[in-house]
Amino acid sequence: MGFKTIRKSVTALANVNIALLKYWGKKDEALKLPFQTSISLTLEGLYTVSTLTIDPDFKEDELYLNGEKASDKEQEKIRAFFDLFRKMYKCKGYIRVNSENHVPTGAGLASSASAYASIATGLNDLFNLKLGKKEISMLARLGSGSASRSIFGGFTIWHHGDTHESSFAENIQSDWDDLVFVVVVLSKDKKKISSREAMAKSVKLPAYQTFLDESKKMVPLFMEAIQSKELHKLGPLVEKSSDLLHATIRSTGIDYYLPETYELLKFIKDLKHEAPLYYTIDAGPNVKLLTSRRYLEHIINRLSRYEVIISAIGGEAYVQS
Ligand code: PMV
Repeated sequence: MGFKTIRKSVTALANVNIALLKYWGKKDEALKLPFQTSISLTLEGLYTVSTLTIDPDFKEDELYLNGEKASDKEQEKIRAFFDLFRKMYKCKGYIRVNSENHVPTGAGLASSASAYASIATGLNDLFNLKLGKKEISMLARLGSGSASRSIFGGFTIWHHGDTHESSFAENIQSDWDDLVFVVVVLSKDKKKISSREAMAKSVKLPAYQTFLDESKKMVPLFMEAIQSKELHKLGPLVEKSSDLLHATIRSTGIDYYLPETYELLKFIKDLKHEAPLYYTIDAGPNVKLLTSRRYLEHIINRLSRYEVIISAIGGEAYVQS
């Protein structure tokens, strides 16, 4: 019979993830199908908890972020996502979402990934859809591309696919638990140009083809480095993917780096003589450093003038209640 006329709530949690092999650019804007495959690491202790409620008295979908009604832009985004969800999964009823971000505000850690991953996990339970993790990842992708990867813990690969059913993430089996990320917070300002907007500009320019060709070639190399648990093999690939991303973004005239980002990168170059550490940067100025637990203390001491967030490898998304 579909929609039942009772109020029901579900609460779900998902961690943020950081792309090691970056995703950039969509071949289908509505379904958020990416042009290439990407690989990420899910982080521990940085997450979103979302409570989803359905009630026959609701007249529209509504999103609350950290207790406050979200901006018109965010409401629009979630309504478009729920409209698509209701149509594709044949569900009925307006949904209210209360999302609590346990990620330091504006730290440059993509909270849209953990937010939409927690919402997709909650939707599966709320509507009793009985989707497997792979299908929940497809659903999360409809909200935010990188959210598809936050359904899983540890290393994750998002196969680009050509259809809704073939574009999903899955876990990469690995017991490599010695890795840790040091996030260096250089700015807490909200970015002026969204990744969605910058992606749309990038895909039309010649530098994007280089990004695609190189990213494709790197997939097996990433898999080998993860399987062999060799940081000196994984690290340079992570930096290469980040550099390729920013080269394609800069070709549009946009530069997400701040002068402080360039300065820190110079300092990192020197620090590399003291410890293995590798940078990666997303659509913002903050720098994420990948290293091994053994060197963490030394690195934190050397970065003492910066605000840092330390995060180890985190687990999969789940329903709390
Ligand atoms: O999924 P979005 O729209 O938040 O885009 C994510 C883009 C990057 O963070 C720069 C790269 C990635 O693969 O996460």
